[in-house]
Amino acid sequence: MSGVHVRLATPDDVPAIVRVCSAGWRDTYADIHSAEYCEDVIARFYTPDRVASEIGPSDSGQGWQWDGWLVSELEGEVMGAGGGGPTGPGTWEVFVLYLDPEKRRLGAGRALLDAMTAQARAHGAHEQWVSVTQDNHKGLPFYGAMGFTVRETRERHSQNIDEPIRTVRMARPLSQGNT
Ligand SMILES: CC(C)(COP(=O)(O)OP(=O)(O)OC[C@H]1O[C@@H](n2cnc3c(N)ncnc32)[C@H](O)[C@@H]1OP(=O)(O)O)[C@@H](O)C(=O)NCCC(=O)NCCS
Repeated sequence: MSGVHVRLATPDDVPAIVRVCSAGWRDTYADIHSAEYCEDVIARFYTPDRVASEIGPSDSGQGWQWDGWLVSELEGEVMGAGGGGPTGPGTWEVFVLYLDPEKRRLGAGRALLDAMTAQARAHGAHEQWVSVTQDNHKGLPFYGAMGFTVRETRERHSQNIDEPIRTVRMARPLSQGNT
């Protein structure tokens, strides 16, 4: 959609990334996970210090890389954030993608995914992956519309707060013209 602009994040974007990801998490998983679990995840992954340390690309040293945070802006305001990186030979994964809950269905998800896809292609990836929580009806239809199909389901127990985490692993080929 016109009006949405996606770019690589800078350190100045840290507060906005924390804001949209925290709000996105609370809204998306309110009916799926306990509030304790959501707050535990936000406290571990979406603190200003952690996001600041992940603004640019990095190599985990464990077989996967992070291509750095991307942000989407609408009318000069950051309203979405996401990122991912290569996970193996020819594969690239969306690790995170959240919007201000009030700013959905304006094309920012597609624009952020397009930017991630350009990064994936730059690495020579031929397949793009994402893990989506099984009952996430705010995320699953988007990936379905973007051509992702379910490859497997996984279940594990979370680290700090004991509750089941059921995820759907989805993927799409990058060789058929999807941008
Ligand atoms: C998933 C998400 C990032 C998509 O971003 P978005 O900006 O809302 O999506 P877009 O406007 O780019 O939608 C692109 C297309 O996807 C499809 N789509 C998106 N959301 C949909 C929904 N809830 N139901 C049905 N189709 C949907 C539509 O085909 C849409 O095109 P259209 O609006 O022209 O019909 C966003 O909705 C979001 O933040 N969801 C909650 C968080 C989440 O689940 N993140 C993913 C975790 S892995």
